Amino acid sequence: MKITDDIVYIGVNDHELDLFEGQYEVPNGMAYNSYVIIDSKVAVMDSVEARFGSEWLGNLATALDGRAPDYLVVQHVEPDHSANVERFMSSYPEALIVCSAKALEMLRSLYGTDYAERSIVVKEGSELSLGKHTLRFIAAPMVHWPEVIMTYDLCDEVAFTADAFGKFGALDIEDDWACEARRSYFGICGKYGKQVTGVLNKIANLEIAAICPLHGPMLTSDLDYYIGLYKTWSAYEVESKGVAIAFCSVYGHTKEAVELLAYELETAGCPKVAISDLACDDMAEAVEDAFRYGTLVLVSTTYNTDMFPFMKTFIDHLADHAFQNRRVAFMENGSWAPNAARAMKAKVEALKDIELVEPVVTIRGALDDDSRNQIKDLAKALIG
Ligand code: FEO
Repeated sequence: MKITDDIVYIGVNDHELDLFEGQYEVPNGMAYNSYVIIDSKVAVMDSVEARFGSEWLGNLATALDGRAPDYLVVQHVEPDHSANVERFMSSYPEALIVCSAKALEMLRSLYGTDYAERSIVVKEGSELSLGKHTLRFIAAPMVHWPEVIMTYDLCDEVAFTADAFGKFGALDIEDDWACEARRSYFGICGKYGKQVTGVLNKIANLEIAAICPLHGPMLTSDLDYYIGLYKTWSAYEVESKGVAIAFCSVYGHTKEAVELLAYELETAGCPKVAISDLACDDMAEAVEDAFRYGTLVLVSTTYNTDMFPFMKTFIDHLADHAFQNRRVAFMENGSWAPNAARAMKAKVEALKDIELVEPVVTIRGALDDDSRNQIKDLAKALIG
């Protein structure tokens, strides 16, 4: 697949993976992208996940039609991109690695060698000429590891953005970019909004014709749309109008309370109510919805005088990903000693720029007139 006359896609699709990075469900598989820039010199952009070395090297050989690559640019050392560096270096003994100083350290940690005699260390603003094409490197620490560099091809105006602008899903299955890019972004880079904003500022003045990430499709049109979403996400701004509700229910009464709240919100004109059952649904999807909407309602039964375990995990995920700048409300259930709301509130209050919305709804087992009225009052407060 050609990106431009001189840039060819040589990545692979993975449909065997159960959990990406050991935790993210990827029902549509994953793509590990790699590219080759063919000029007087030849540069390969990153390798691929361990199991796909033969396929990747085969794709490279086909694209090069007998030529040998001069450089392997290692933008990111996470093994989904670096696992075949060693195989590449053995296959092409004249080739050099191009990467950050930190990346060399990390290659040594992971693979036992940093290829010190066969490397070119680059940093912010370094350039590498391939002939017609000049590659300029952009330091992108913590997007999403500290060694990351991005690469801008001045000739074709292509930005190689490492994990940024990537998404879950293999390239041979079409799905909505924003849905799986958002779940990927908040799961993988959510904590590093400041660093992502910093990189977006660095590339703001570049003419960009295409964005080539390490996962997901190459983006070749409507780039303002993708960059705009990244600006919103990295600034922790609200993307969509609506309310996210995350709940834990044991015997169904707490779920009934959630359904009543959703009904009241929708009846009052709330444009979207996104509900996650934390025991059954994908946790990363629940995290994504919490970041997407401006208001989050946490609903839990009381369990061992605390919140239900899945809720504790969920709030920990939010804290781990720097959840902030949102309105949060609570509903609890407890037949004899409701205490989930107090426990949830204690964890949420520690987060940045959170506005707590009253009333806290307390259900004593099954819904009754009192708790139904509390839910109606909460819906009014959330809409108002
Ligand atoms: Fe796709 Fe951070 O590795």
